[in-house]
Amino acid sequence: MKVNVTVNGEAREADVEPRTLLVYFLREQLGLKGTNVGCDTSSCGACTVLLDGESVKSCTLFAVQADGRAVRTVEGLERNGVLHPVQAGFKEEHGLQCGFCTPGMMMTAAALLERNPVPTEAEIREAISGNLCRCTGYVNIVKAIRHAASALYGARSAELPALAAPSTETVGA
Ligand code: FES
Ligand code: FES
Repeated sequence: MKVNVTVNGEAREADVEPRTLLVYFLREQLGLKGTNVGCDTSSCGACTVLLDGESVKSCTLFAVQADGRAVRTVEGLERNGVLHPVQAGFKEEHGLQCGFCTPGMMMTAAALLERNPVPTEAEIREAISGNLCRCTGYVNIVKAIRHAASALYGARSAELPALAAPSTETVGA
């Protein structure tokens, strides 16, 4: 089947098998390998991309479901060599270790900040609850997203709702 998709602002046309999942279309046919595959079962969020601005797990959609729509992947965050504030936030706040979850985590964060410029810690944690990280823990990821909120919307850190006291939690939002 023929699909026409706008990917990171560029019109792309391709022939796909009807069973091809969006994540494999992006990785294998378009060569956009920044989107990872962790579980293939809709659990981990490593494959998260934006579809018409909404974060979706691209292992849960067929490529043909993206026909006529706009997809944004992690490769589409940086512009002209300048990191997107979400990318800069993860860098500044050490929001990653192995980096496997990071592309999906950042796409979820970008979608969150589009619809909620000044999220609370609880709102950030709820937003990333479908994105699992197995090595960083979530404290620095939350800080990274708050850093991005400050950069994107000029919110002074005093305007951002306070963070909860640090915990030893490493798994779960
Ligand atoms: S690979 Fe899609 S949710 Fe894990
Ligand atoms: S940084 Fe390793 S899984 Fe999240």
